Amino acid sequence: MFKTAPLNPPDSIFGLIEQFKKDTNPEKINLSVGVYQDESGATPVMKCVRMAEQKLLDAAGTKSYLPIDGSTSYNTAVGRLILGDLDDQADVNSVTAQTPGGTVSLRLAGELLRRVFNVDTIWMSNPTWANHPKIYGAAGLNVKKYEYLDEQGTRLDFDRLVTSLEDTQPHEAILLHTVCHNPTGVDPTQEQWEQLCSIIKERQLFPIFDFAYQGFGTSIDADAFPIRRFVESGGEALICNSFSKNFGLYAERVGGITAVSHDADVSRAMLSQIKLTIRTMYSNPPLHGGAIVDAVLNDPELRTVWESELTEVRNRIQQLRDTFVNAMQTRIPEKDFQYILQQRGMFSYSGLTAEQVERLRDEYSIYALSSGRINIAGINSGNLERLCDAIAAVV
Ligand code: LMR
Repeated sequence: MFKTAPLNPPDSIFGLIEQFKKDTNPEKINLSVGVYQDESGATPVMKCVRMAEQKLLDAAGTKSYLPIDGSTSYNTAVGRLILGDLDDQADVNSVTAQTPGGTVSLRLAGELLRRVFNVDTIWMSNPTWANHPKIYGAAGLNVKKYEYLDEQGTRLDFDRLVTSLEDTQPHEAILLHTVCHNPTGVDPTQEQWEQLCSIIKERQLFPIFDFAYQGFGTSIDADAFPIRRFVESGGEALICNSFSKNFGLYAERVGGITAVSHDADVSRAMLSQIKLTIRTMYSNPPLHGGAIVDAVLNDPELRTVWESELTEVRNRIQQLRDTFVNAMQTRIPEKDFQYILQQRGMFSYSGLTAEQVERLRDEYSIYALSSGRINIAGINSGNLERLCDAIAAVV
């Protein structure tokens, strides 16, 4: 019965993790998957997470089902983290449902738009996270791309972006990377976001804000600017957030879907539709990851620990960008690497071609995505020299 199933190629990101694990070179370097690594190359459990887990262990607890939309205190805290003080405004009505990671939340948003609002098309940046087109294709939407980068593929070409949005039709959806664009690290400025918000409203598009890197750009609050600005100006939006990166809770699968409107009845209806979609997909979310985030966000002491750990991560990545650019500039003075300093978050579109990435992997055991995306957090003082020598050799 199963013999007609065609063999699917390995995932373009997770497939590389398998290859990296099998590589026996003791000097191998992993710049592929978007997972934070510290100076020793480890992906540690954050201190605030360990403190919260201890608290949960000490409490009596239960493993009974969560509600379909997850824990109320988690959802309230997540809504507040995303919207800040806007959450207090009487004319801002938001509902959040806890989801198993950001990926599920993105898929839920697609299911919701197609099933409830008959949306048939979603626009996303070219390039975007490799899983985005697959998620929305699987949700039954046509995927179209808007332009994002300049000819060199390292900086935003805002005019090109705006021009390509002229092809959108009312009632289509648009996917936006709120901060730390994946895979490029290239974000619009606040003024450009203002313009984008107006265009989205004028063209009557359903926006989905993918918010996987809150706290990795400038700060927890500043990173939420595009969403808050859009809501403040009267817009309705779906927000898909993840705690994989900013809590280091990758394997716990914890995130949320938030629908913001300006009418309490609309919000109630949206939550009812989100719950219906969840019930038919996975019934209700897992407990542990959400309980950790809930415990941290709702405890002032743990929250302070979290915020300072997150600041440390953000500063370290910025520092790594500086070190990396200096080291490359010394090796190849005629090439300008400054664009890497303008990019934000874990990723950089390095400008490496697919052939150069292949050579790095085959000849030096250095793993990056074939698009040229590198994970800056995979660099450390122990591998920097070898990495830069190898890059200089292949470019
Ligand atoms: C990435 O882009 O590397 C991460 O978001 C991990 C993933 O799921 O692809």
